[in-house]
Amino acid sequence: MRKYLLSLKELDIVVMGLISNFSSGVVILRGDLAAGKTTFVKRVVKYLQIDEEVTSPTFSLQHCYGNKIFHYDMYNHGVDHFISLGMLEELEREGLHFVEWGDDKLVEILNSAEIKNMTLDIKKISDDKREYTLCIH
Ligand SMILES: Nc1ncnc2c1ncn2[C@@H]1O[C@H](COP(=O)(O)OP(=O)(O)OP(=O)(O)O)[C@@H](O)[C@H]1O
Ligand SMILES: [Mg+2]
Repeated sequence: MRKYLLSLKELDIVVMGLISNFSSGVVILRGDLAAGKTTFVKRVVKYLQIDEEVTSPTFSLQHCYGNKIFHYDMYNHGVDHFISLGMLEELEREGLHFVEWGDDKLVEILNSAEIKNMTLDIKKISDDKREYTLCIH
């Protein structure tokens, strides 16, 4: 487990920490409303020099950036709905899959399907700082 306390300007530090240790699999992004989950995905995409706009996939199931970065948001539908639509198969594709609002149940499902996964918890410490806890299991 690794922890970082970072402002927006310093965000690449945790992006590099993640990318250098986890090249393919599911990254579960946890944190309250407005913690910085979408912002983190934006920085990953920018860091990888993919010139595409990153927005939260609130009304669609999946956004893709380049051909290896995938983005999901389970806030509206929850894990059961997500899995019932066949998304587990998507999560098995080669690449990095960022899931906003993924929960413990998703972790369990991924583990039993032997899909590599990790969690990134984001906590608001102050207006200009967030604490990032990377946990690769
Ligand atoms: N490390 C950081 N330091 C300071 N501000 C940050 C940091 N990361 C994100 N923010 C700010 O936090 C706000 C909310 O960010 P963001 O939309 O990414 O949150 P979210 O967790 O995706 O929210 P939601 O739960 O609505 O999906 C934005 O204004 C963003 O600039
Ligand atoms: Mg978001």
